[in-house]
Amino acid sequence: MFLHSLQRLSSSACTLLRTAAARAGAWLRARPRLAAWVYPAATDAGADAAYREFNAGYFGQFGEQERMLADRPRMDFYHAAVDRHVRPGDRVVDLGTGTGILAAFAARRGAAKVYAIDHSDILEHARRLARHNALPNVEFVAQHSRDFVVAERVDVILHEQMGDFLFDEGMVANVLDLRDRLLRRDGRIVPSRFEFYCEPVRIRDSRRVPFIWELKVHGYDYACLERHRPQEPHYYRFNSSDLGVVDCFLGAAEPALAFDLMTLEADELPRELRVSRTVTHPGRLDGCAIFFRARVDDDLVLSSSPLDPGRAPHWGFRILRCEAADYAVGDTVEVLLRAPDWSEPDSWRWECTRRPAASA
Ligand SMILES: C[S@@+](CC[C@H](N)C(=O)[O-])C[C@H]1O[C@@H](n2cnc3c(N)ncnc32)[C@H](O)[C@@H]1O
Repeated sequence: MFLHSLQRLSSSACTLLRTAAARAGAWLRARPRLAAWVYPAATDAGADAAYREFNAGYFGQFGEQERMLADRPRMDFYHAAVDRHVRPGDRVVDLGTGTGILAAFAARRGAAKVYAIDHSDILEHARRLARHNALPNVEFVAQHSRDFVVAERVDVILHEQMGDFLFDEGMVANVLDLRDRLLRRDGRIVPSRFEFYCEPVRIRDSRRVPFIWELKVHGYDYACLERHRPQEPHYYRFNSSDLGVVDCFLGAAEPALAFDLMTLEADELPRELRVSRTVTHPGRLDGCAIFFRARVDDDLVLSSSPLDPGRAPHWGFRILRCEAADYAVGDTVEVLLRAPDWSEPDSWRWECTRRPAASA
């Protein structure tokens, strides 16, 4: 009997300790700067290796490749971009070739040599497809791009490394690494110009999911849960690629950040963005939509905006939810988005503030 009570006591103590440790870990993970101080370099190296493994596994599946290849605006954009910017005789690197489609566009455009690099198992299928399609001049390289070395400079870097959050597939670090090591001075990156958006939005009533503490369900009030709000940013993000979700932008959309991979330096991206929008569509603010546009020349644009009719449909867009607030015409929405690490959306934090028209 005594032994049994002792076992139960020690088991409860262990459960309490495990819960406390899990809560402390979650609290720490929600504060990346503090976490980086507590677990210095090991966190970065481990996270990078884990991300590489996740990325290679994810893109190794036919399902993911199918979604990208069936995305007509995406494929039309890249086909036109290669047609304009790869010249016969060029030497090209296709960073993250997947099934080899961009390498195929370049080879058929007359490239003298295409290095088609991918770190996932999809590369075996890319080789098979190249044989099947009698593709000339393509060398497949089963490697992560940062390990890729070659004894010549290239004319073009082709890539599609954009995630739903634009930065979350390592595009900036991967492209800049190849640019600085391998691209000729007069070379080209396709695409190189990007716009990142963080637009205040309203979600359609029928699709809106309020925070739990905002709810009253047939008179049952959830307000007391407010002080238990989670710390993890992924709880606050709403993910969709369904165009029926967004009702409208509250103001006129403009890039929150624009950059060109030809000239960008790695440490040049600001760690925080301030977006200010004068409200033209009054009503409730639900959050900020994250999306991007890639440009090749002024007339060739690839968009993941929820409100662009020709958007590339396989990209989801994200809404950084904010607590609902009502805005009148002429009010200003002030958004502050902090991103200690752009490639890691879990490190992002945001807040929206209303400035009434009278004080604007
Ligand atoms: C978004 S898919 C694009 C595939 C193909 N380029 C296309 O347009 O259909 C990205 C591909 O890049 C690969 N990848 C991502 N980062 C890489 C890296 N740093 N080095 C090599 N391959 C990478 C992934 O395995 C994946 O197949």
